[in-house]
Amino acid sequence: MKVVAVYSVKGGVGKTTAAVNLAWEAAKEFRVLLWDLDPQGAATFLLQVKPKVRGGVGALVAGRSKVARIIRSTDYANLDVLPADASYRDLDLMFDHARKSEQRVAKILEQVDGDYDVVILDCPPGAALVAENALFSADAVVVPLVPSPLSIRSLEQVKEIVAASASKPRIVAFLSMVDRRKTVHRAAVEELPKKQRSVTDVVIPATVQIERMGTERAPIGSYAPSVEAARAYGELWSRVRATVKPKARKHKH
Ligand SMILES: Nc1ncnc2c1ncn2[C@@H]1O[C@H](COP(=O)(O)OP(=O)(O)OP(=O)(O)O)[C@@H](O)[C@H]1O
Ligand SMILES: [Mg+2]
Repeated sequence: MKVVAVYSVKGGVGKTTAAVNLAWEAAKEFRVLLWDLDPQGAATFLLQVKPKVRGGVGALVAGRSKVARIIRSTDYANLDVLPADASYRDLDLMFDHARKSEQRVAKILEQVDGDYDVVILDCPPGAALVAENALFSADAVVVPLVPSPLSIRSLEQVKEIVAASASKPRIVAFLSMVDRRKTVHRAAVEELPKKQRSVTDVVIPATVQIERMGTERAPIGSYAPSVEAARAYGELWSRVRATVKPKARKHKH
């Protein structure tokens, strides 16, 4: 089972959008679990799953409830969701009080090792314990970068956090919400993948087709499979796939 954390210290850069679309792409070939670690529950919402965690996430962290009972299926084959609800607001505090506080996510995921080939973690922004947990369990960290001088800084921050983590996941960064009419954006597309080894040349354009995910409540590939943005997420998944090399075990029926 390979774990991919979609993460940035910055908010609103396209983490959840990438997590949902990568999960959908991965599910074409693998058994996939998307774990929504954000109390906002945006990934849960986009996949039309009820934001309800029986017993709250506290029971999960304490080992009083089983992950399998909280996981929900989606409209898509081989794509399940571990939803978030408001109880996730206190997740950081719960981890803080737990033993080996940065290893709780990894520990919980051990319960479903064997049930899934790929786990995608949709992380909240910031550098709190939830993020540390996600990175500890991850084989790769996918980092959306919105072109701006600050995006390089956010990539450096992620690199620092990864370097300090025990597990040292691989970083796969990509340019997100790119508007080619803007000089700064064109320059970033041109230069960043050349300058930074961890930045792929996959570019996700800023487009209303992606914004529509909020009203469709579906991955872009399911309602607009041939648009550039949908194909770009497909390409991004193939890069992540090549990085973590998941193994498909027997499919469930
Ligand atoms: N490529 C894009 N083009 C246009 N809109 C986009 C694009 N990517 C994301 N958005 C929109 O931008 C908003 C923020 O995206 P998203 O929720 O994926 O970011 P996030 O990094 O997960 O945010 P947060 O830090 O709050 O979790 C959403 O409304 C989403 O629909
Ligand atoms: Mg998000």
